[in-house]
Amino acid sequence: MATVLLAGGAGYIGSHTALELLNAGYEVVVADNYANSSPEAIRRVEKLTGKPVKLYEADIRDNAALRRIFAENRIDAVIHFAGLKAVGESVAKPLMYYRNNIDTTLSLLEEMAAAGVKNIIFSSSATVYGEANPVPYTETMPRGTCSNPYGWTKSMMEQIFEDAQKADPALSVILLRYFNPIGAHESGMIGEDPQGIPNNLMPYVTQVAVGRRECLTIFGKDYPTPDGTCLRDYIHVVDLAKGHVKAIDYILQHDGLEIFNLGTGTPYSVTDIVETFQRVNGVEVKHVYGERRAGDLPASYANADKALRLLGWKTEKTLDDMCRDSWNWQRQNPNGYRE
Ligand code: NAD
Ligand code: WQD
Repeated sequence: MATVLLAGGAGYIGSHTALELLNAGYEVVVADNYANSSPEAIRRVEKLTGKPVKLYEADIRDNAALRRIFAENRIDAVIHFAGLKAVGESVAKPLMYYRNNIDTTLSLLEEMAAAGVKNIIFSSSATVYGEANPVPYTETMPRGTCSNPYGWTKSMMEQIFEDAQKADPALSVILLRYFNPIGAHESGMIGEDPQGIPNNLMPYVTQVAVGRRECLTIFGKDYPTPDGTCLRDYIHVVDLAKGHVKAIDYILQHDGLEIFNLGTGTPYSVTDIVETFQRVNGVEVKHVYGERRAGDLPASYANADKALRLLGWKTEKTLDDMCRDSWNWQRQNPNGYRE
């Protein structure tokens, strides 16, 4: 069976993908510098699957470290999760974001070329659709104007992949545009473990529910949406991880560059999330309505037809599943991977 290198694979989406790849019979190698993760996530993946993962502590910008990994393993494909992802922090520290996110991509592409590795899947984001495209987003729409440096790094990296693939048609590239991943593995053993104050909605909700934070502020209730709060395409991280397995199956059989939205196609509001979370879990999430957050769009959701057509992938989990599994993880691990 083929071997897949997960760059940044100890993180939230990487650890869930490692588990699904192992369950599908792939060999998995993970390289991560733990900038926003813990090796404990991979230990738990090994426990859950009963299979080993070769784990390297390495910075993906470090060409020499990558050279060693490619020399020591017969890698068939790479999934590039490694990156910094906190939108607010990217506004405050743009150079750190450009340096980390773009350099990881350049180093990976350089060392893949040197080692003759021809398949790469990249963690892109719905944020590249920018502010002007109408919803639902389809992959043929042009990339737009991003509202923050994090988004721009994703947009620029997509361009880098397109140029690299054009220059080397033997290189196969898949750009996966994730919508809003939430939820956790149903065991509650792995999940999202953000450092500091969460930027994203669901970890904030679970931390309020578990008593780590006082109260959720819902950003804006005067948007042109049915209940006045923003609409997003929330996707269960296990469905997302299974999308990566389908993308690996596909890239090992096809050349060229493809872009896929990974979303459900169904938008939910912030109020829907809070109400569903309270209902399925029987816990209270104290919340207040506040000002809009700068840069938020009223609505962002996918047309996910292409992934169904070409990859044979569609989401299976419901919003109830997402809310129940997020809480199951948080309740069992109130401080994440830290004891
Ligand atoms: P995460 O922070 O949990 O995972 C990213 C991993 O990359 C972490 O383990 C981190 O330690 C590692 N990393 C960062 N810089 C590194 C470097 N220089 N060298 C080695 N490792 C490095 O985030 P995630 O939610 O799992 O996201 C994975 C990818 O998907 C990221 O690229 C992110 O931008 C992208 N993405 C995430 C979302 C989301 O909402 N979670 C949405 C769209 C796209
Ligand atoms: C969701 C909704 C907020 C927190 C971001 C990135 C995007 C992608 C996913 C990586 C919005 C509201 C949030 C809170 C709230 N990441 N909210 N109170 O902004 O859709 O997307 O993460 O690529 O690029 O921009 O996700 O989880 O931050 O917000 O009311 O405390 O929840 O206003 O409507 P977002 P989010």
